[in-house]
Amino acid sequence: MKLLVTAGPTREYLDPVRFLSNRSTGKMGFAVAQAAAERGHTVTLVAGPVALPTPSGVIRVDVTSALEMLAAVQRLLPFHTALVMCAAVADWRFKQASPVKLKKSEMRPVIELEPNPDILTTIRPLKEQRTFVGFAAETGDPLVEAQRKLVSKGLDLIVANDVTQPDAGFAVDTNRVTFLSANEPPTALPLQSKLDVGREIVAWLERHLRT
Ligand code: PMT
Repeated sequence: MKLLVTAGPTREYLDPVRFLSNRSTGKMGFAVAQAAAERGHTVTLVAGPVALPTPSGVIRVDVTSALEMLAAVQRLLPFHTALVMCAAVADWRFKQASPVKLKKSEMRPVIELEPNPDILTTIRPLKEQRTFVGFAAETGDPLVEAQRKLVSKGLDLIVANDVTQPDAGFAVDTNRVTFLSANEPPTALPLQSKLDVGREIVAWLERHLRT
């Protein structure tokens, strides 16, 4: 398989020193990339701003903003057979960004945002025979929201993580996830390292691509 993985947060800059982002460290997406490379697959990793070394054998493309991540995914997808969208893409960006640092006196208490495109929805017309895996980071009922995203984003598999748990989700080395796909009952996996979650995702992809 030729696998494209996205990982980490995106950063939406207001000026050269201020940005809007989230707590993603890239650990989960890098673990998926490492697990796939260990199995001998060709892996390209589109990484937001993170402080992690590139897993051995993985081609890495660094991006900053959601628009840059979208452009990288659009450019690279034609050369891949599967996509795992693990990145925590910022849903909003600043309507006006300044190329120079804004002075406190120039800033107003309300700053206008505009929506970023949803990457999965935008690239859906390019899916063809490819397998798409998404993640759902939830603080409410993870399965209800994940099921909705599985359908609305046209995914083959969604990996739901309850990010309210201290040992799962953002910025930890472990994760507790449930797999939801169109044709199988939900599968709740036990707490395990992100690398082992990555191995489970790669095993699911290998089974799915055989059928
Ligand atoms: O990086 P870590 O610190 O290891 O943390 C891992 C993680 C919690 C970030 C990861 O496990 C995770 O859940 N990633 C997805 C986070 C997220 O943005 O979920 P979401 O429910 O907002 O988005 C659902 C899906 O749509 C995701 O596959 C996301 O990549 C995708 N998306 C979201 C927004 C957007 N504008 N475009 C998208 O394609």
